[in-house]
Amino acid sequence: MDYQNVFPLTDQEKNELFLALDKITYDPAGGDAYIHAIRSAMMHYLPHRVSAALGKQKASIKPRPYFILKNAPIDKEVFFSPCPNEYTPSAKSGNISENLLVGISTLIGEPYSMYFEGKEIINNLIPKREAKKEYTGLGFDVELDFHIENAALKHLEQFNVSPMGLLLAGVRRDPQSPMTRISDSRLAIAQLSQEDIATLASPLYSIKLPYRWRQSTQGGREETALVPLISQNHILPDVSAVFYPGMISASTPRAEAALERFYGLIKENAIGIDICPGDLVYIDNRFALHSRDKFTPSYDENDTPLRWVQRVFVSASLWNHRNLNQVEERIFSI
Ligand SMILES: [Fe+2]
Repeated sequence: MDYQNVFPLTDQEKNELFLALDKITYDPAGGDAYIHAIRSAMMHYLPHRVSAALGKQKASIKPRPYFILKNAPIDKEVFFSPCPNEYTPSAKSGNISENLLVGISTLIGEPYSMYFEGKEIINNLIPKREAKKEYTGLGFDVELDFHIENAALKHLEQFNVSPMGLLLAGVRRDPQSPMTRISDSRLAIAQLSQEDIATLASPLYSIKLPYRWRQSTQGGREETALVPLISQNHILPDVSAVFYPGMISASTPRAEAALERFYGLIKENAIGIDICPGDLVYIDNRFALHSRDKFTPSYDENDTPLRWVQRVFVSASLWNHRNLNQVEERIFSI
């Protein structure tokens, strides 16, 4: 792990931030007044070194691949893990984690959610027995291998709403906690041959659309046309690779071989993070891939899962969402 990407808060900073966040009422729809209040509080109470780094993430053309905030304020008590798609305020003693996620994300870009990921601006990633084999945040029995979130959406002109980044927060920790892994594709690309880079930057691959998008986009098509997986600028690349099964088809043997070598280097260059309560992890989805290990969930005395991670999507602006349905202020559906 590169410690230049890790920002611990002091206990005093944590406590001051807790008090500020505790005064703000969480708005699950992400309304303008709420976003404004939380952004103002963060500017005031977040230490300058942290807000400066977040501002740089937003503005720089050489951004960090990831960013970890440590010793962040957490809710005083978590009573149980709710059903992931239902807003359940009774599960915790307050909304510190939601406010913190929204607050940090507003210093990098604009937070939003897709309705099918959950009905509020913050998504709850909690293992669900019925979803155990799913390649989503609710599955657990399969390794959610390295991917760019919603990679195919980068190639759909009308629906280019692949998030710029993801912000994750630990709410509860499973003792068998799976690692979340992050790989900066720039490190992998620097180790590839020029020929492999040229191949990966050519329109030789088709990427499957995320399952729920297939019916509603591109006339019901299941995958993109042939597209490149890395942009022409491979020093500062935009990447759209997904390595869990069946998501990318290469159209030639050479394209397949380059993809395999890219995958190997993505795995080799990854770092692993155990996302615990008090940790916030930002992943730059433009060029950093992430994965989550397979795991066996543990349950509390109420038979609700001990693993609970929250997530929010961040984009530079919401202009690209104008073709979607706006269910609530910052919640969109297709
Ligand atoms: Fe993901």
